[in-house]
Amino acid sequence: MKIPQLNSNDFLTLADFSKKEIFDLFEFSAKLKRDVKKGKFSKILENKTLAMIFEKNSTRTRVSFETGMLQLGGHALFLSSSEIQLGRGETIADTARVLSRYNDGIMIRTFGHDKVEELAKWADIPVINGLSDSFHPCQALADYFTIYEREKDITSIKLTYIGDGNNVANSLLIGAAIIGCEIAIASPKGFEPEYSIVEKAYKIATQSNAKITITNNIDMAVDGADYLYTDVWVSMGQEKDSLKKRKAFAKYRIDNNLIKKTGKDAKVLHCLPAHRGEEITDEVMDGPNSIVFDEAENRLHCQKAIMCALMARK
Ligand code: CP
Ligand code: NVA
Repeated sequence: MKIPQLNSNDFLTLADFSKKEIFDLFEFSAKLKRDVKKGKFSKILENKTLAMIFEKNSTRTRVSFETGMLQLGGHALFLSSSEIQLGRGETIADTARVLSRYNDGIMIRTFGHDKVEELAKWADIPVINGLSDSFHPCQALADYFTIYEREKDITSIKLTYIGDGNNVANSLLIGAAIIGCEIAIASPKGFEPEYSIVEKAYKIATQSNAKITITNNIDMAVDGADYLYTDVWVSMGQEKDSLKKRKAFAKYRIDNNLIKKTGKDAKVLHCLPAHRGEEITDEVMDGPNSIVFDEAENRLHCQKAIMCALMARK
């Protein structure tokens, strides 16, 4: 199978990709997944290196990128911002130009999305967004791949996201708009996804026939959902708002009763880490409808596909 061809040199937000490119990445992820299950590893990125800058904590992103690079014959470097010169004031532009002399790709997890864009502007090598305050595209790709694996036609599903209109919600929204499925996002008043991103999703949806609902009404959002999704109420960097958010989000939780309200045997996704007892109950996390660990596994396969597409080319 051929490595997917992408127009963009970087992977910063799903909005930069066409439906065909996303589906090509799904197919290639599926192939890489099948290969791993057979113990087959093709050294597509032999001798290549990925510099991974982390300004926030991570379990899945760090481990899946590092493992993925090894499986592809390359190597990943973990660079905590507190230990590299970036944390002492070296500019993003200088960091980008230096890393471009040593490495074949850069993954960054940071705060403002402008930092990811700045890095991509100055780097001569592909940049992958491993989560910014605005987007988490690697997560959303793996999420939709997890659904894609289970469905004959992913465009006919309804995904309902319950909770904070955050980076994960934004990427799911853009992803649905490109793919052409139905998405409903139910958030408390004042915590809806950012208006400019919703507007962008509506614009993309005119091409794909995606159906988008942004609401505060949980019952309306979950009705008929095939998949329920939630994420933490308090994202990394928002700790000062914890008290206020915990009050506002008290009802925005996935429990067994909410699954019943879908009227379907809805499967449940969560990007993880979960705050059990807040946005999701133990019974759901550990119950028969949960597909959260398949979803976490798929980060590995999908990111390998992204890295092959961006880094295998000259
Ligand atoms: N879902 C996700 O990105 O997990 P980590 O924060 O552990 O990387
Ligand atoms: N919205 C969460 C996602 C963590 C993977 C955060 O930004 O902390």
